[in-house]
Amino acid sequence: MAKTLHRLIVSVVVSALASIFFVAPAASADVSPMIVGGTRASTSTYPWVVYLASTSGSQFCGGTLVKANKVVTAAHCVKGRTPASTRVVHGRDDKQSTAGTVASVTRIWVHPSYTTATAGYDVAVLTLDRNISSATLPLATPADTALYAAGNSALILGWGTTSSGGSASRYLLKANVPLTSDATCKSAYSQYSNTSMVCAGFPQGGVDTCQGDSGGPLVFGGKLIGDTSWGRGCAAAGYPGVYGRIAPYYSVINAQL
Ligand code: ARG
Repeated sequence: MAKTLHRLIVSVVVSALASIFFVAPAASADVSPMIVGGTRASTSTYPWVVYLASTSGSQFCGGTLVKANKVVTAAHCVKGRTPASTRVVHGRDDKQSTAGTVASVTRIWVHPSYTTATAGYDVAVLTLDRNISSATLPLATPADTALYAAGNSALILGWGTTSSGGSASRYLLKANVPLTSDATCKSAYSQYSNTSMVCAGFPQGGVDTCQGDSGGPLVFGGKLIGDTSWGRGCAAAGYPGVYGRIAPYYSVINAQL
């Protein structure tokens, strides 16, 4: 009896210590495991965020519903894909659930000047086989220059990886990142062009979009100001995320809607 009590006390003490030394570091790592450095979000709060999937249901990019049957995404997400091999999933926070709607794609428009993400024009429009009854997100227009001011805290959303080279998130994640100035982004990336791109991220890194978030929204002032495009690694200090700049493409995108 005394021996059993002694063992019990020992095991309680050992597990208490273990929780200090092992659980505590894991819990603090949990502070930044998502998008990179994000938290869970619901598609009921952001009803226009969608993901792109293969016919087998595997998520590969994000997108934004801008009209009942039109999704803006990144050109690099869909260039070379056939509409028949592409699905758009709306209203599903958890990729392992069957919530929401899976739409087929009937047409893929890729910006005609697109070659690679780092050269700009990284924007595409998908036409869906149905109208989704949901709120849509308006596009930034050429008049919306104020939305692109450095320091504006923009919203990013996606189901992509939670660290550079890590695995994709099961759940929709969100974070906020400040837009950087053109000078800051140009000094990080020689390929940066303020006519086709906009950058966002903290100088110290830690919060960013990552692989699988591409095509998804960068939102400020209630409008779609960018689509997730590229970056060096993810969330690295001195290397902000680069987004396709929507305002300059307003007319060509709008012509597709
Ligand atoms: N190219 C990536 C994709 O296809 C997005 C990378 C974004 N990188 C970044 N550091 N923000 O999903």
